[in-house]
Amino acid sequence: MISIAQPNITEDEIEEVVKVLKSGFIAQGPKVAEFEDKFAEYVGVEHAVATSSGTTALHLALLSLGIEKDDEVITTPFSFAATGNSILFTGASPVFADIESKTYNIDPQKIEEVITDKTKAIMPVHLYGQPADMDPIKKIAEEHNLWIIEDAAQAHGALYHDQMTGSLGDMACFSFYPTKNMTTGEGGIITTESEELADAARILRSHGESERYTHIRLGYNFRMTDIAAAIGLVQLERLDDFNKNRIENAEYLTTHIDTIEGIESPFVMDQVKHVFHQYTIRVKDGKRDRLKDYLGENGVGTGVHYPKTIYQQKLYQDLDISGDCPQSEKAAGEVLSLPVHPGLTPEDLETIVNVLMEASESFLMER
Ligand SMILES: Cc1ncc(COP(=O)(O)O)c(C=O)c1O
Repeated sequence: MISIAQPNITEDEIEEVVKVLKSGFIAQGPKVAEFEDKFAEYVGVEHAVATSSGTTALHLALLSLGIEKDDEVITTPFSFAATGNSILFTGASPVFADIESKTYNIDPQKIEEVITDKTKAIMPVHLYGQPADMDPIKKIAEEHNLWIIEDAAQAHGALYHDQMTGSLGDMACFSFYPTKNMTTGEGGIITTESEELADAARILRSHGESERYTHIRLGYNFRMTDIAAAIGLVQLERLDDFNKNRIENAEYLTTHIDTIEGIESPFVMDQVKHVFHQYTIRVKDGKRDRLKDYLGENGVGTGVHYPKTIYQQKLYQDLDISGDCPQSEKAAGEVLSLPVHPGLTPEDLETIVNVLMEASESFLMER
């Protein structure tokens, strides 16, 4: 089976982890600090605050910005649930703006329609590794005095008009879950230009401590371990190669998929570097699930990112949080992610294309 995702771990990561284990410093320590410095430098911002996951990074970023009960945060419903859940954790309400059908990212025009006097922030997601259209989003944020928190969980190393994701808003959050473009096992990181916001996140990350045993507010234990940071330091060195590989795999798939009827290859905006966390096609005429099964039966793993909008999840229905996002609901029924990770061989890529061609002849073309 060709897997949809695969962490890429070499002897280098293993050696660095062993060194940490032998050092006696295995919780948050010098490796986390080094990882934060290197990650901030990579993104081109002043500060990075490493966390236990992408979700805790989002939670801390929102709290650091002062988001609280009765506030509203505008985001996309076409994302992993953690995007919306992080807003719920603060007591604020997620408000959903629909996506652009081509990029699957939040539609700036739809943001304006849902702004109220309770809106405090916009949280765009750079879905599948393609940056959201940040210029109009920034303009709206400036006009309405709103914070921007980038959910960059899927977009390490992506560029918007030559600027790195993670440097496009007030704060940004990445995930290092094993399926992501780089991993630390579990882990996340916040990036920001603001010393004040980074300090707030650091305090909240560790029990609200301004210094050891001085607790100035209610905080958490959302720390990263030095074991995870040791993996992250090696992975960060390899990230550009990983992304190059993903982009080449995507180009190969697109060249062939564009000759196949019934499926649409991913659209890439002008002036962006899409880093293909996922390579997601659109399958027309209600045939997505049939194609998914066919690929699975023929050795090609796939994923549906995502089968429902966030507001269609039971949790949100129980909380009476709804949305009116027809493009997102339509996409949820049509998208299918194919393997694109750097572990794919040329033979794997050929197999994926051949199975798609067979599917096209067998049932994608028929009306
Ligand atoms: C868009 C998005 N936001 C947030 C998260 C949460 O990250 P984590 O799984 O590291 O908590 C993920 C990944 O899982 C994600 O894809």
